[in-house]
Amino acid sequence: MKSFYITTAIDYVNGSPHLGHAYEKVLTDVIARFRRMMGDQVHFLTGVDEHGQKVQQSAKKKGIPPQQFADEVSAEFRALLPKLNISNDDFIRTTEERHKKVVGQVLQQLFDKGEIYKAEYKGFYSTRQEQFLQEKDRRPDGAWPEIFGEVTEIVETNYFFKLKQYQEWLVEFLTTHEDFIFPKYRQKQVLEFLKEPLNDLCVSRPRERLEWGIPLPFDGAYVTYVWFDALLNYYSAVADKPGVWPAAYHVIGKDILLPPHAVYWPIMLHAAGLALPGGIIAHGWWMTGGSKMSKSTGNALNPLDLVAEFGTDAFRYFLIREMNVGQDSDFTREQFLVRYNSELANNFGNLVNRTLNMANRFHGAVVPAAEVAEDAEKELHALWEKTREEVIPLCEGFQFHTALEKTFFFITATNAYIEKRAPWKLGKSTEAHDQALLRTSIATMAEALRLGTALLTAVMPATVEKINAVLGHSPGGNWRDELVWGAKLTGTKFAEALVLFPRPEKPKATG
Ligand code: ME8
Ligand code: MG
Repeated sequence: MKSFYITTAIDYVNGSPHLGHAYEKVLTDVIARFRRMMGDQVHFLTGVDEHGQKVQQSAKKKGIPPQQFADEVSAEFRALLPKLNISNDDFIRTTEERHKKVVGQVLQQLFDKGEIYKAEYKGFYSTRQEQFLQEKDRRPDGAWPEIFGEVTEIVETNYFFKLKQYQEWLVEFLTTHEDFIFPKYRQKQVLEFLKEPLNDLCVSRPRERLEWGIPLPFDGAYVTYVWFDALLNYYSAVADKPGVWPAAYHVIGKDILLPPHAVYWPIMLHAAGLALPGGIIAHGWWMTGGSKMSKSTGNALNPLDLVAEFGTDAFRYFLIREMNVGQDSDFTREQFLVRYNSELANNFGNLVNRTLNMANRFHGAVVPAAEVAEDAEKELHALWEKTREEVIPLCEGFQFHTALEKTFFFITATNAYIEKRAPWKLGKSTEAHDQALLRTSIATMAEALRLGTALLTAVMPATVEKINAVLGHSPGGNWRDELVWGAKLTGTKFAEALVLFPRPEKPKATG
């Protein structure tokens, strides 16, 4: 089996999880489930980023110690995962011993090799971004951009990691690994960024300024810069698990691609003599009214509210159907309701209901064998073959929104097939051919429903399980075999009914 290790970013615990965090987990979960279905040995890691100034400040505001604060907020992030039906294998907190140990080891190793040196730094520092700024970061009018928050000038002795000396290596690596960053155009942006000379990376913060971090193993007066600490989670979580590292993909948002994931991380790994990940998937942002949802602006939606109202799978479906991985999407309640009502309830839910209903009404709930194959059956069968052939490569290329679109095209066509055959009319006829067509139509809609449902497994796993249960079907271990049109349900007995996507209670104010 091919090993497939996938990670999400680890979330800062300076505020509650929002829709953007939920999306990243769901997207990564869909990829993880898809790879498992394709036969890979998947290891799926997510977790939380607990150190650094942001967390220290938030704890201070609440008047509690940072560890207690981190414990509380981390519990919230962790509790979100089962609510979203996330199939992670592990959850890492950067305050755990296993992580701190590896961070210390890597730092010591780099220090011993002369990759980390001590120097005096004088310059501007952004507390909000926890980074040192350069002249080129200023706006043309000389002011510092909003995103840096308060900027202060400081003089400080710190430890620096020799990033600059690996710049050429990184350019060479990216040039020879064209698919390292998804979407591809972001790889071009990284190469563009690398046309400017890099500075060495300050990897320490004096303790008197920042307490809340991992002490440098070679100088206790300093703690580790939060990004150097955080990035290493991907490795520290599996350092003692043979055969897992390197990761196949890191899934992150586009805001943390440059420079941490596209520059610091590959260079850190290379300098430490560790293998590089297969790639980085940089998704876009969920927006409201044109601006990024975020903890600091207070415009973020709580994913738990939507899950409570519409159910986990409808929520997962919407996120994956709506967002083209890499691009931004505006979240509106109207659009959510449109997809919920027209795609899930009226199209897919309706197909489930009709199929159960027809089998119950006309064939004692037992699936008959198909007896004839006229144009209507042949066309649906042919559309299935095309759909199946398209969907797998789309999922392999993270085009899940299009994969769902194709799947729903097939579901719509199956409903249209039912309209065309009109089993409720055939049932009134006693003619032998009509009776054969009636049995055929029930067999055909049942098989089409089974297949369409199978394509939704990674996105709506609990719904798929419920449908298979009422169809009396237990999918075999091999997903690709499940996707073969093959009268798999002949002779099985259906349940009477299944309510899948009930009408939402009452429309709320738009959000
Ligand atoms: O950046 N839409 O943590 P974080 C989509 N701790 N994704 C969003 C989003 C939005 N509106 N807002 C945030 C950090 N995200 C670091 C990561 S990794 C070693 C350390 C995504 O809590 C964001 O892009 O600010 C990132 O991938 C993740 O949520 C965590 O963001
Ligand atoms: Mg952020």
